[in-house]
Amino acid sequence: MNATIPFNSPTLVGDELALVEEAVRSGHSAMDGPFSRRVQDLLAEVHDAADVILTTSCTDALELSALLLEVEPGDVVIVPSFTFVSTAVAFARAGASIRFADVRPDTLGIDPASVARLMDDRVRAVVAVHYGGIAADVDGLAAVLADHPDVTLVEDNAHGLFGERAGRPLGTFGRLSTLSFHETKNFVCGEGGALVLNDPADVARAHVLKDKGTNRRAFFRGEVDKYTWKDTGSSFGLSDLLAAFLWGQLQRRDEVLAQRRRVFDRYHDTLAPVADDLGLQLPVVPEGDVPGYHLFHVLLPDPATRDVVLDGLRRDGIQATFHYVPLHSSDGGHRFGDGHQDCPVTDDVSARLLRLPFFNTLADDDIDRTCARLVALVTDGQGPR
Ligand SMILES: Cc1ncc(COP(=O)(O)O)c(C=O)c1O
Repeated sequence: MNATIPFNSPTLVGDELALVEEAVRSGHSAMDGPFSRRVQDLLAEVHDAADVILTTSCTDALELSALLLEVEPGDVVIVPSFTFVSTAVAFARAGASIRFADVRPDTLGIDPASVARLMDDRVRAVVAVHYGGIAADVDGLAAVLADHPDVTLVEDNAHGLFGERAGRPLGTFGRLSTLSFHETKNFVCGEGGALVLNDPADVARAHVLKDKGTNRRAFFRGEVDKYTWKDTGSSFGLSDLLAAFLWGQLQRRDEVLAQRRRVFDRYHDTLAPVADDLGLQLPVVPEGDVPGYHLFHVLLPDPATRDVVLDGLRRDGIQATFHYVPLHSSDGGHRFGDGHQDCPVTDDVSARLLRLPFFNTLADDDIDRTCARLVALVTDGQGPR
């Protein structure tokens, strides 16, 4: 009997536990503590951003974006149908109608041609997701948005921290971008996220919104003599205990990225020689880009084969999984969408996509065993055990 290969296995990669203890002992465990500042400064440097705000999740960072952009009923926000619910729900909660764009069949990122067809005067924002940490077509989006200067580009960069498009970090193309440190992501603290502010004009208000609508930050900076209620907002800040854990992870970023690159490359190099014969489509990384190495997916030739392979791998203890169910055809999509339901590429890839086990410490032998079983299952629907 082969050992189970989990889909994900978050690991301690450095001094996380000691750093959490230090945070407890420092007496500052709420948001905006010393570890939060260190993480925020690092992330601001990586993105060359005006500022970064750590939040309790990427979902919260997206909600903060909606508040910052003053999205309101009557507005439309365009999101890819092939994404996690949060990309849409954060803007739906602000009252926007959601318009679903299709994705490109190669990168699975939002398709600028689909976005162009959906543009009108009601559109306030377009949200791009860098699926798996592979850059969406930000150049194509910029060309579409050039004719719509009032429309804001937001990058939901939950998967793509440290990924690059032509030498430029993902998360620097939109006015705002968001990150996730959920336990399933490359760098984790249980639950966590960040809002990257690429426009200095957003910084002061973003902090007010994060500080429950108060000018608390201005008070601590000595700019006002007391703080009070100024605006709408909520309690979006991340506890410094979690920021300490995250700091421990981020200090080992080169090591983590190298491990994840190893996993990605080994899957790729093992499956690439048989991909054409078996009708497999492997991740497409545009020339000159660096992915964030968040996941490894395979598109099977048809939905039936995907389901056979998924079942077969699971029976053998290999915890592969499918991914997003198209949002445009979900109950929430019908309720919060504005009627644009035509996303054929999303329907197609969602039914054929398989994600393979992927985590920092995944052993080469387990990658090889997963690939061998996958190939056998595609070849004859069963394959030897
Ligand atoms: C593309 C995308 N956006 C947002 C999220 C939400 O992240 P969080 O769990 O940090 O709120 C996820 C979570 O998997 C995601 O895949």
